[in-house]
Amino acid sequence: MRINPSILSADFGNLEQALKDIATADAAHIDVMDNHFVPNLTIGMPVVKRLQQISPIPLDVHLMIENPDTEALRFAEFKVASITFHLEAAKDPLALIKKLRQAGVSPAVSVKPATEIESTFELLDHIDMVLIMTVEPGFGGQQMIEATLPKISNLRSEIAARNLSVSVQVDGGVTRENIGRLAALGADTFVAGSAVFDSGRPVDNIAALKAAAQTH
Ligand code: DX5
Ligand code: ZN
Repeated sequence: MRINPSILSADFGNLEQALKDIATADAAHIDVMDNHFVPNLTIGMPVVKRLQQISPIPLDVHLMIENPDTEALRFAEFKVASITFHLEAAKDPLALIKKLRQAGVSPAVSVKPATEIESTFELLDHIDMVLIMTVEPGFGGQQMIEATLPKISNLRSEIAARNLSVSVQVDGGVTRENIGRLAALGADTFVAGSAVFDSGRPVDNIAALKAAAQTH
């Protein structure tokens, strides 16, 4: 069970401190938004490059951008641990996956709530992770969309049936209260923004989320 805090809910005035505060987590989830693929604009290449240099933990970069086919490779140059791009935005997902792998980055794909999880199945032999969006991408602090949850068990069954070791990540509205249910459905990697940063100490929130995920 991995907890990847999303720094989207952190203090953007002090991201170095935010990374230190989540140093006990498995990876830092970095939400890159371009105001085209989603209606929000966050951080881009220069900031991600610097975060990679100063982060005590691996970076899990979630690209919510148009044209990932070319743009994702520019983020790969920074040697972040993993890059997730959206299937809805990619023109040639398999080619991009192969290029990311070649660049030494762990490739992953994501689907928005309305996109069928079956669209990821033909790529499972080539990727390390699928990110199931459990809210509409764009903003932290939203409530998890219940209708997305069957995707988790569908994907987990497909991965098991094919004897693969692909991670199932969920992102959006993850809380201490629902994380056990998500784990029971088959998720193993949990993005949490507001549940880590909004109240209390991040280190305690990470530990509580992990404990709750493990005891489902
Ligand atoms: C939303 C982002 C998420 C977001 C999650 O588009 O992809 O990573 O930060 O925030 P919470 O955990 O608050 O839903
Ligand atoms: Zn995200």
